[in-house]
Amino acid sequence: MPSRSHAAERYLDLLTGCLTRELFLDEEARNIDLNIWIDEVGGSTGIHGTGIHGVEELRDVLRANNWRIVHRGGDRAIRQAGHDWPPTAETMVGKARLDNARDLATRAVLDDIPGDLIETGVWRGGVTILFRGVLDAYADTNRKVWVADSFEGLPVPNADLYPADEGFDLSAIEALKIGVDAVKANFERYGLLDDQVQFLPGWFSDTLPTAPIDELAVLRLDGDLYESTMDAITALEPKVSPGGYVIVDDYGAFEPCRKAVDEYRETNDITDPITTVDWTGVWWQKS
Ligand SMILES: C[S@@+](CC[C@H](N)C(=O)[O-])C[C@H]1O[C@@H](n2cnc3c(N)ncnc32)[C@H](O)[C@@H]1O
Repeated sequence: MPSRSHAAERYLDLLTGCLTRELFLDEEARNIDLNIWIDEVGGSTGIHGTGIHGVEELRDVLRANNWRIVHRGGDRAIRQAGHDWPPTAETMVGKARLDNARDLATRAVLDDIPGDLIETGVWRGGVTILFRGVLDAYADTNRKVWVADSFEGLPVPNADLYPADEGFDLSAIEALKIGVDAVKANFERYGLLDDQVQFLPGWFSDTLPTAPIDELAVLRLDGDLYESTMDAITALEPKVSPGGYVIVDDYGAFEPCRKAVDEYRETNDITDPITTVDWTGVWWQKS
C-alpha cells in the first residue's frame, strides 16, 4: 500500500496554512465599519496633525478617497477553531476540520477507496481546493472533486416543509454569497483548476439528485440547514463506497443539521460509529 510522502505532506501543510491565512495572520486586515467606529470614538474632536476636525469629517475624507480604516491581525485561536468568517481566507473551516478533511481524503486515495470527492456547501471553495491538492500531492489523475453550491448563499428556510429550519434564515447574508467565478479564481490562485474539478451550481434539491456522480470516496456536508443537509445526504450517501467517508461540518453547530443527519441515519439503519473532530465537525466510515 502506498504511504504518505514527506514532500506531499509538507505541500499540504503549506496549502492549509494559505487557505486559512494562518500563515499570514499578522498581515490580515479587516475593514472596520465607519459608522460603528464613529460611535466607538464619538466625542473626540480634531485628529492631531491631520487638519481634520472630528470623526464625521474624517469619515467624509475616507469615503471621498475610497480609503478604509482596518484592523490589522487576526486571532489565531479563533481562526484555528473556525469561529470566524475570515476576510480573505478561502475557507471558514478551522484547522482541526481542515486537517480531518485532508486526512480522510488522503486515506481514501492511499487505501484505494473507489470514488470521487465532494463538498456540498463550499463558500469560497477552500475545502474543495484542499481535496484537489490531496489528489495532486498523491498523483491521482482519475478522481474528480465536485464543488456543489448555489453560489448565491443559503435558501430562505421553508418552515412548512422543514420545521427544523424555522428561525434559521441566513439567506440575506451577503458574506455567504460567493459567485462561481470567484470560487474558480480561488482554485486558479493555487494552480488547481482543471478538468478534475467539476462544479454543480444551483440548489442541492435541483443539482444533486441528477448529478453525474457514480461513486464517492468522500462526502463532506456543509450546508448548515436541515433542508440542505437532508437534500445532500439523501442524494449522495447511497453513492459512498464501502470504506468511504461521510463528514458533517455543522453537526455540533446547527441543531437543524444534526437533526437531519440523525434522522437519515436512523431511517437507513446506519450504525457506523460517529467520530467527533472538534466542537462541531463529525465523521463516520461507511461499513
Ligand atoms: C457555511 S458555508 C460553507 C463553508 C465552506 N465549506 C468553507 O470551507 O468555508 C455554507 C454554504 O452552503 C451553501 N448552501 C447552503 N444550502 C444550500 C442549498 N440548499 N443549495 C445550495 N447551496 C447551499 C451556501 O451557499 C454556502 O456557500
